[in-house]
Amino acid sequence: MSSLIKDIDLNKLPAHIAIIMDGNGRWAKTHGKPRVFGHKNGVLAVREVTEAAAELGIKYLTLYAFSTENWSRPSFEVNALMALLVETVKRELSTFNKNNIRLQAIGDLSKLPDMTRKTLLEGIEQTKNNTRMTLILALNYSSRWEIVEAVKKIATQVNDGLLSVDNITSDVFSEYLTTKDIPDPELMIRTSGEHRISNYLLWQAAYAELYFTSVLWPDFRREHFYQALLDFQGRERRFGKISEQLIEVQ
Ligand code: FPP
Repeated sequence: MSSLIKDIDLNKLPAHIAIIMDGNGRWAKTHGKPRVFGHKNGVLAVREVTEAAAELGIKYLTLYAFSTENWSRPSFEVNALMALLVETVKRELSTFNKNNIRLQAIGDLSKLPDMTRKTLLEGIEQTKNNTRMTLILALNYSSRWEIVEAVKKIATQVNDGLLSVDNITSDVFSEYLTTKDIPDPELMIRTSGEHRISNYLLWQAAYAELYFTSVLWPDFRREHFYQALLDFQGRERRFGKISEQLIEVQ
């Protein structure tokens, strides 16, 4: 089978792709295995998509690895996910450096188990000078948490006389989010057939193209990723304008 990669226009790539990696549990079930088996196989998909994104020239890739709601899962599963994170970051560190990939994380890292936080911060520190692509893990992340935190920081600044209410613009607000310095995602992918955004990058995805596929995350491979990119490139992004206005500015 020939690869879809040849059809991708490298001059029309989204700078930032955000992914909701969903379906690990269902994938495990179809294989008659416990849920954690699905997460372990999900790491293979993480690896392949990270590689494919970096090779194409995508600058930012954000993966929803653990939401603030995921704490309510059975503790066995939460612990396994945290351990998997530690294991994966440790194992992939040399590959990140070899491939010039910078690791970052968004979310409330203070609530992560010590070992997970420590490994993650070490990974971030040891890859901080890499420039080819930034891989961002959303961990203990939720948009509503992030937005409330931003509002608290802004309110404190206003209270302390450091910021005037009149100067609060959409751009200023963005500076208070965990994604400050990261461009907004232009494409958001969700696997497993669910059509929801689930509290993920709600502010940042204001103009993102949404792409849903029924493929379960552990089955998601390069060609599925290319398919999502081709779909993205076939869409007309109007940002509130009409088609004719887009032709005028091109
Ligand atoms: C959703 O599937 C997946 C998660 C909540 C965790 C994602 C984690 C990984 C892919 C592995 C670790 C990641 C990294 C970056 C090392 P689900 O469990 O909600 O599946 P279900 O909807 O079928 O139950």
